[in-house]
Amino acid sequence: MPSFALIGAARGVGLELVRQLSANADNTVIVTVRNIEKSTHIRELQQSRNGNIHIVEADVIDQHTMDRAAAEAAKVTGGSLDVLIHNAARMEKENMIKGFLDYETPEKLDAELIASFNVNVLGAIHAINAFLPLLRKGTTKKILVMGTEGGDIGMVRKSRMSNSVAYGVTKAAEHMVATKFAAELESDGFTVVSISPGFVDVSGTAVEPMPGTTEESKPIVEKIMKGIFSAYPKAAMISPEESGRRLLSFLESMGPAENGTFVRSPEFRD
Ligand SMILES: NC(=O)c1ccc[n+]([C@@H]2O[C@H](COP(=O)([O-])OP(=O)(O)OC[C@H]3O[C@@H](n4cnc5c(N)ncnc54)[C@H](OP(=O)(O)O)[C@@H]3O)[C@@H](O)[C@H]2O)c1
Repeated sequence: MPSFALIGAARGVGLELVRQLSANADNTVIVTVRNIEKSTHIRELQQSRNGNIHIVEADVIDQHTMDRAAAEAAKVTGGSLDVLIHNAARMEKENMIKGFLDYETPEKLDAELIASFNVNVLGAIHAINAFLPLLRKGTTKKILVMGTEGGDIGMVRKSRMSNSVAYGVTKAAEHMVATKFAAELESDGFTVVSISPGFVDVSGTAVEPMPGTTEESKPIVEKIMKGIFSAYPKAAMISPEESGRRLLSFLESMGPAENGTFVRSPEFRD
């Protein structure tokens, strides 16, 4: 019975991964969400399955709630875990389009950077630390951290993407979190990789309007997209289903050669 824990997977890419993994009744899938009451998509999915999805409430910014989530997961799996997928990210749409010069006050800039650091950097550290004792008893010792080209220096340089600063800076740091854990845990047989899910249309489960859908954000998003498409002509939005298939195929095959790397989606490879 392979076991998977998906951290912060109430909607979007994480929800789709839960959907695909739980379609196999042999898989045990633990999902952490911030607020069970509000996480309607994952609850509906849970009801449509035969008991192999277990939802636990936890906020990645709080190590103690993550430790409690891991303790709950251990009760379900008997103390072990095969795969950890860290998916949670702070992606407040207003901030996704802001550059360093777009914040109304220095305080607002600082506050967003710090809030993003708490979720996107400390969140990954908290999740991995909490679930590590279970993973040590698992069979595959695989940790996948959802990264992004938006946090990749080469991609940002080439596309001149000056926006999305709080997200990009903290996701870049999250890539380093994965690489540090990869170095730490290599001798214990672990593989830790950051991977981009691609440019995914998650509008179907979004809680606020997507950037570019409001009059104010439209020209900014058009400028960002122009930069991306001129640097990466193959860039294209993919469905959550396609993204999920790619990610799980990579998860299956990943091994020591990929340990500590950040893997771009095919459309964004130079
Ligand atoms: N979509 C893309 O095109 C794209 C591209 C590159 C990389 N990514 C990466 O893929 C991952 C998923 O992205 P997505 O597009 O699916 O995002 P999304 O639809 O905005 O979902 C983000 C998820 O993170 C959870 N989350 C946020 N803060 C949290 C916290 N403090 N504790 C626990 N969970 C928290 C959210 O929970 P709530 O429902 O409670 O808010 C939600 O389930 C992210 O790591 C993102 O950086 C996405």
